[in-house]
Amino acid sequence: MIPALVVAAVLATSPDPSAAPSGAPAAQDSLAATPVSARVEDLDPLRRKLVKGELPEAPGKQLVLAKCSICHSTEYVTSNRLTPKQWQANVAKMRKFGAPLTDEEAAVLAEYLGQHWTPDLPEVRAKPVKPPKGALPGR
Ligand code: HEC
Repeated sequence: MIPALVVAAVLATSPDPSAAPSGAPAAQDSLAATPVSARVEDLDPLRRKLVKGELPEAPGKQLVLAKCSICHSTEYVTSNRLTPKQWQANVAKMRKFGAPLTDEEAAVLAEYLGQHWTPDLPEVRAKPVKPPKGALPGR
């Protein structure tokens, strides 16, 4: 049994916002008490795309797809919420790790990421959790 993984897998399957029961009360209260699907519905179209992990059309998109998904998924990148300055530092760090970017590409990419995936953007995806001790063989 690996309950934590099961829970994570269930949470990662983000519900279809349109599947909310009709007549459900609009979410106006604190975000913490609001169901995730309702929160997504309350977002403007761009942010709705962003929290779903979609990449807005711009030169930065191709860079994310071509250069950042070499080592990890695009969703791993866009599940982060960083300030523009932090994105800049992150891109510099990834270049040190081996991301093949020219200075110009790095600037375009940092601006693209810093424009969209900022701390004010809600998080709707489950973060991976460590399975509890003893849940995996040999650990
Ligand atoms: C050469 C492999 C490689 C490439 C290419 C790469 N990354 Fe990473 N990335 C990593 C590794 C390894 C980690 C985990 C770092 C750690 O745990 O400190 C990571 C972690 C991250 C994180 C999590 C935050 C952090 O600092 O650990 C973000 C965000 C990220 N990468 C963004 C990007 C972006 C944006 C690009 C495209 C420029 C990119 N990565 C390209 C290897 C890579």
